[in-house]
Amino acid sequence: MLDSRTKIGIIGLGYVGLPLAVEFAKKYKVLGFDINEERISELNSGFDHTLEIDSVTLNKVLTKDCTTTQGLYCTNDPEILKNCNVFIVTVPTPVDKNNRPNLMPLINASITVGKVLKPGDIVIYESTVYPGVTEDECVPVLARTSGLKFNVDFFAGYSPERINPGDKKHTVANILKITSGSTPEIADIVDDLYKSIIVAGTHKASCIKVAEAAKIIENAQRDINIAFVNELAMIFNRLGINTNEVLDAASTKWNFLNFRPGLVGGHCIGVDPYYLAQKAQEAGYHPEIILAGRRVNDGMGAYVADQLVKQMIQKDTHIVGARVLVLGFTFKENCPDVRNTKVIDIINRLKEYNVVVTVHDPWANVAHAKHEYGIICENGESKTRKYDGILLAVAHQEFKSIDLRSLCKKNSVVYDIKSLLPNASVDFRL
Ligand SMILES: NC(=O)c1ccc[n+]([C@@H]2O[C@H](COP(=O)([O-])OP(=O)(O)OC[C@H]3O[C@@H](n4cnc5c(N)ncnc54)[C@H](O)[C@@H]3O)[C@@H](O)[C@H]2O)c1
Repeated sequence: MLDSRTKIGIIGLGYVGLPLAVEFAKKYKVLGFDINEERISELNSGFDHTLEIDSVTLNKVLTKDCTTTQGLYCTNDPEILKNCNVFIVTVPTPVDKNNRPNLMPLINASITVGKVLKPGDIVIYESTVYPGVTEDECVPVLARTSGLKFNVDFFAGYSPERINPGDKKHTVANILKITSGSTPEIADIVDDLYKSIIVAGTHKASCIKVAEAAKIIENAQRDINIAFVNELAMIFNRLGINTNEVLDAASTKWNFLNFRPGLVGGHCIGVDPYYLAQKAQEAGYHPEIILAGRRVNDGMGAYVADQLVKQMIQKDTHIVGARVLVLGFTFKENCPDVRNTKVIDIINRLKEYNVVVTVHDPWANVAHAKHEYGIICENGESKTRKYDGILLAVAHQEFKSIDLRSLCKKNSVVYDIKSLLPNASVDFRL
């Protein structure tokens, strides 16, 4: 099946979908579909605002002709997808305001695919989900919309994505990929498809649910490990012990896991454990550790703000109207993504104390920061202003060389929650 007739439709061209589409387009014809018109025009102009794909690489694979046998054709016309025989769904899997999984993007994408599905087609899901979503939630939508029979007329697969935005070493082709299929034969085809582009190789899981569960536990495990060191940081702060020095010492043991304290934002690690928790609860088990980890990590923004205010009070700073500079707004370093950033929790808590907050972030998508959070990233506009407190919230590489002392008032407090700066520039760390 994998030859010049293979036409891959990728549904959702975000952080996950675009790099995958570009990689496949080097070998196959790829039709990239996204409901966001702005995203399609941006990509067709050769620009990717997520900065995952540079313009030279994007322009090399982009094509304006949807009938060629290779290259990436980007569109918001779902009709074009009828030319595909393999579909890969990479749409978001968010939670609602009560942290319950919102499967609507997946359901809508399944309706789009269902409308163009033909006998023999394969639909592979890559979005992160709890075990059962592909076969119990999405496949019935595909069957209903297309009128075709599952595992007779059309087939499914699941292959979770493991990319790490901003990381130029662990890119799609360099990360071993888990694959799975709805029948043994389809699992082989899905595996061969990914093997043809993933240099790091593949791991064929025994079934779709195993592949789904594997991905969700990777992120839940990371969340719990970070929650543990966050709890340690809160304990050691009370004891007057430097947490990072403790972790450096403990890390000398061969099997100590070297996690560091910090905020857990973004829409993977801070969200995916809720997907697993929901499924566990449906199955009659109330998860203790998974949700405890979430509670600890979700409380870190307020904790950090309280710590800063406490230190400022100890230095006799009048808190109402005090000026604090927050360095970094994205959910992680060296990446423009502000979705589910926990820096907003710090800012909101500081505002409860009537502190005046200035945000500086050379990486953040300024439009998204303003639109989603009402935050204006000043980015050094008032270079002469001095601050009562400076909080390094995100470890962007640019902050390593910033001269913080020139921004400080006499009694300022510099709080580095990422342990990026040298001791001499910092008053305290998380
Ligand atoms: N970003 C990561 O680091 C990462 C890593 C591994 C896995 N994942 C998972 O991959 C999935 C996608 O994440 P992302 O970061 O690429 O999201 P994203 O928000 O960057 O991109 C999703 C894209 O899908 C589009 N979209 C939404 N609904 C659609 C629909 N019905 N039809 C077509 N397009 C639609 C959006 O417009 C957007 O461009 C999520 O399940 C996420 O948890 C993300």
